[in-house]
Amino acid sequence: MDEVKIKPNAVGLRGRLALPGDKSISHRVAFFGALSSEGITAENFSSGADCKSTLRCLELSGCKVERTGGSIRVSKGVNAGEIKAPLDAGNSGTTARLLCGLLASAPGVFAVITGDESLCKRPMGRIVSPLRSLGARIDGPGGGAYLPLSIRGNCLSGGAFELPIASAQVKTALMIAGLNAHGSVTVVEPAKSRDHSERLLQHLGVPIRQENNRITVYPCSDLPGCMLRVPGDFSSAAFWITAALIIPGSDIVLEDVGINPTRVGFLECLKKMGASIEVEEKEPSGGEPVGNIRVRHSELEAVEVGEDVIPTMIDELPLLALLATQAHGVTRVTHAKELRVKESDRIRAITQGLKNLGADIEELDDGWVITGPTSLRGGCVESFKDHRIAMTFSVAALAAREEVVVKDAQCVSISYPEFFKHLSVLSGG
Ligand code: S3P
Repeated sequence: MDEVKIKPNAVGLRGRLALPGDKSISHRVAFFGALSSEGITAENFSSGADCKSTLRCLELSGCKVERTGGSIRVSKGVNAGEIKAPLDAGNSGTTARLLCGLLASAPGVFAVITGDESLCKRPMGRIVSPLRSLGARIDGPGGGAYLPLSIRGNCLSGGAFELPIASAQVKTALMIAGLNAHGSVTVVEPAKSRDHSERLLQHLGVPIRQENNRITVYPCSDLPGCMLRVPGDFSSAAFWITAALIIPGSDIVLEDVGINPTRVGFLECLKKMGASIEVEEKEPSGGEPVGNIRVRHSELEAVEVGEDVIPTMIDELPLLALLATQAHGVTRVTHAKELRVKESDRIRAITQGLKNLGADIEELDDGWVITGPTSLRGGCVESFKDHRIAMTFSVAALAAREEVVVKDAQCVSISYPEFFKHLSVLSGG
């Protein structure tokens, strides 16, 4: 599937859908499982290519990965010695960064971590430099700024860090290193990023200390194990939330979705815009809150999105830009410069694609100014091989008045291989 053609003028989305397991939580299940002899067993583990990259890299590092029926079990441990094959994190920033934390703190290991073309351009200095100050030995291009990185695992000391930007990947990599280190590791973030790692450790009964945006982990040579069900991925649900809001006649229910408050800033923002959204809380799973989300088509008003909420909706900002093209008034998104170093430069990709479809969108260094509502026309849009960009434009296409062609749409499999199947279920096609 090089490109996909989406039929325009979709009629209302209807029905109920259970989402595949959350990508961020699945990565953490695998990495914390890799630190536990008992192991972590998970149902509804993410089906995406990114989490497959994590499992493959962990297996190559000597961890045990067992697949039985619908569940995955990951258990200890990293083999000391040279890992001969390069560990290919594919397109996954989370895999590459968390592996750095795991391997740099495993004495006797030698490994090379690499990735695809996009990942090799993404910044790694943000993880290499704090790990080095704990004593990690990591080398790579630009003084360790980019993949491929070679890592010689070693006994790390404890330490404390103030991160210049909120990043759950950096925080988690340092927490993993801290569990293996000789002293405690403290991470302070300028704003709270997603807290799945903290919740999973607490669910396992591992002592950690949390005060606002400051978190401390202590050495723990063998984590307890557990069994859990990974909640549905809120970031995947967000595509259908957006589609239902902008397509008249829509009324859908998304079942068993993770509704962790550090992930659902998008919902809060949509409520401010006047969206009809109801959340019914269900039983938590693995320390994570879960709920059913009902969404109906709504008239939307513009909104201002700034610094404090950006980390809680970072992966949903492309969708917010699309929604803003259908909302009344001027929407401003600022302080979102991190979007420039995701799987693609998402600020540029969204500006270019939505402009092609006739939207009134201005690119800022750190966001957009979007005036709506505008009726979207057909055309051809580049996904830049970025899964979230391909899915955002596929949803835009449903609301367009002519056919839209989305280039390189196969990349949806990075996080959501079932995306086009689910699109046809909800749109009755
Ligand atoms: C993720 C954290 C976020 C997010 C990414 C997944 C994670 O990135 O954008 O898709 O699983 O920890 P940052 O760590 O850069 O905030």
